[in-house]
Parts: sequence; structure tokens; C-alpha cells
Amino acid sequence: MNGTQTTRRSFLRALTAAGAAAPLLARAERLEASLPHGSFAPRFDAGDPDAIRRLRSHYLLSDDLVYLNHASIGTVPEPVIRAHAGYLELCESYPSLYVWGAVWREVAEDVRRSAADLLGCDVDDLAITHNTTEGFNVLAHGLPLRPGDEVLFSSLNHAGAAVAWDVLKQRLGFSVRRFDFPVMRAAELTPEEVVALHADAVRPETRVLVVPHIDNMIGLNHPVRGIADAARAAGVEFVLVDGAQSAGMIPLDLPALGVDAYAMSPHKWLQAPKGLGLFWVSPGTRTLLPRMWHKTAGTRLEGTARKYEDYSTRAWPAVVALGDALAFQASIGEAEKTRRYEALWRHVRERVEVDGRLRWRSPFAPGLRSMIVAVEVAGAEAPAVARSLLDSVGAEMRAFGGSLNTLRLSPNVATTESELDRVLEAAASTGA
Ligand SMILES: Cc1ncc(COP(=O)(O)O)c(C=O)c1O
Repeated sequence: MNGTQTTRRSFLRALTAAGAAAPLLARAERLEASLPHGSFAPRFDAGDPDAIRRLRSHYLLSDDLVYLNHASIGTVPEPVIRAHAGYLELCESYPSLYVWGAVWREVAEDVRRSAADLLGCDVDDLAITHNTTEGFNVLAHGLPLRPGDEVLFSSLNHAGAAVAWDVLKQRLGFSVRRFDFPVMRAAELTPEEVVALHADAVRPETRVLVVPHIDNMIGLNHPVRGIADAARAAGVEFVLVDGAQSAGMIPLDLPALGVDAYAMSPHKWLQAPKGLGLFWVSPGTRTLLPRMWHKTAGTRLEGTARKYEDYSTRAWPAVVALGDALAFQASIGEAEKTRRYEALWRHVRERVEVDGRLRWRSPFAPGLRSMIVAVEVAGAEAPAVARSLLDSVGAEMRAFGGSLNTLRLSPNVATTESELDRVLEAAASTGA
């Protein structure tokens, strides 16, 4: 059964259990009937151009836009938008019941279960938050760090995983150190070297290591298990992972990573409504990490990661629609998604390799690469190239200036090879 069907059934189940009046049940049943039925992309075949075209038809992306910025913010598929709109309507038909009653909370448990299935984790270890940044704020505010303890991360870390430590260090007494990641050598690095770079940076005072699973600049898929094991062997107590770019892009088994916490932003590669996060915290770490929000007094919420989402009033329709987003991704299938990303990666790689005007700047080793690729246009300023590409070929992407000086391409499953060719040709022709 897919997640959407579960969500619908649990609406009716929760309403019936709540003794809802007949008109209310009828309305929920109408919603149930109006939601997209069945699998969204049945038997999606990554090698079939028709399947890719059919998938593309589910998105509202403007026809004149080549959207290569899924790493910044994803686009929600139309069936998920429709479901979300239905939940909003239902909510407004009886606000106090839907916002404060048990209905959404019960349905949200099905969503949590679907997310836990995707991440290979226990449902009790997962909180539905607002974004990755929130997870790192909870960690920076709450971990029991003392004066003299150090928080370590590489220069590849995003502000969302880094700034809370910088801001809080004075008040809470710990120190923060960044080590320079050799981004200019990204294409030559091996997994062993990436592990060693992290292990070598650890000092006796390092208690926390923050690692992006996949960084947002060069798309390095960090060998997290190896890094975590090496860091622990060197005395690090907490290994915390920024999963903003990995959740939904690559298959995940969070407990197998050997880390303490993993924060995610499903608005990117899981194409969920904006304003939702996922936050996995290991049972051991939870005993040391207090919640940041307090609505429920007493200890009822202790013991599971649900304690990190004690928000009181919240946007439940979006939370429920996360279940639809997960179902949509499940209907594409992890294996086919991986196959499609591998094909797109190879396409860009081969195109860049034969064009002397372009330079490949992302990791190359199979274990280190991802669907975020960085390309330099020889003799050109990347931010200026990106601006010109929006005008010339309608391409939207992020660019990094300074010494990195790269265009960041982050396509998605339904991006086509011909779109990438058009953009890369236009990019190359702006160079020296
Ligand atoms: C690697 C990485 N970490 C963290 C974030 C922050 O995500 P959010 O704004 O959803 O908290 C981003 C956003 O782009 C990111 O790319």
C-alpha cells in the first residue's frame, strides 16, 4: 500500500474514532475520493524517455524554465499540491477540530512511519520539524558541551549547520573551528582521503564533528560511516550530519551510518511542501539532548524524538502532505531514481570532458559523487554566467564566485539530457 492510501484511510479512521458528525465524515470522504489515486509514476523506467516525459508532466515548472536548482529548493509535484490543498480545505471546514484535535496527529504518525521507512530508521527516533537549520539549532542549544570543548567542521558546511554554533559559542562556552576542505582538488579525492581529512583535523578537545552528507557546493557524497568511525576513534563524542541534500537524493539507512543525529530538509529532493524538516536523533543522544520548544508540561513526550516537535499550533496540512510527497517519490522508486541520476551525471561529465571551454570541479570517484555537480567556465565569472543563462536559455541555477568560481547544476529525475546540453553549450559559449 502506498503512503497516500494510508493517509486517506487514517483520516477517516481518526474522524470516526473521534465520533465526528456525519457532515464532517462526508466531507472527509469527498476529499478522500478527490485525491489522486494509485501510484503516481507506475513502473517508472529511468531508461524510457516517455516515462521521463510523463513524470515531467506532473510538475508545474514553467515551460520556459530549465530548472537546475533543486539543491536550493525543490518543486512540489502537482498531485502533492492537490492533496495539500485538500487538507487545507478540510482544515478550514472545522479549524479547532483539525488544528487542535487528534485527527492530524494520528495521520501525522502515518507520515512519520513512511519517512522512517525511507530512512531505514525507527519511527520513535524521527521528529517532523521545519528544516535542517532547526535541527542544528536544537543540537547547538542543547548538547551538554563545556568550556574547552570544541565543535569542528570543514569549510564545506552550510550556514544552516554551522551558524548556530558560531553564535552560541560565547554564551555556552565551547569553541568552534573550521578546517579548510581542499575543494580545488575535489575531482582527485578518494573516499579514504576524505575520511583522513576529517580524522586528521580532530584534536583532543574536539567533542563534536559536523559533517554534510552531501555538501551544497561541489556535491561531495561524504563517506559518513568511515568519517564517524575515525572521528570516534580519535575521541569525538558526537557526530552530527547535515542531510539537507541527501534525503530524497540517495538511498539512506540512518542507523547504519553510526552517527548521533541527522537533520534534513524534505523541501529539496523529496519535493515536499516548504517549511518541513526531518530530524533523526539516536536514542542515546536523545537522553542528553533536551527539547527546545515546550508546550506539553511533564514528561509525556520524553522518550521519543517527538519531544523535538512540541510546537503547539502548527501547519498540519503541510505535515500530512509530506506523506503524499513521500508516496510520490516512492512511486518513482529509489533504484530507478539512482539509475536516472547516474545517467544524468554521466551525461554532464561526458559533455564537460570533451569541451575545452568547461572544467569539471566536482568529485569523480564513484563513492563520492552525487547529483550536484560543479562546472567552471574557463575565463568567465560563474555568477555572471549564471545570470546570463537565465536570460539566454531560461536556466536557473546557483553559482559560486571567488576561487571556487563554479556553476552548480542540480537537475532532477525529470530533467532531460537535451536541456542540460542546451545549458552547457550556452555556458561554454560565454567563456574566454
Ligand atoms: C547542505 C545544506 N545544509 C543546510 C541547508 C539549510 O536548509 P534549510 O534552509 O532547509 O534549513 C541547506 C540549504 O540549502 C543546504 O544546502
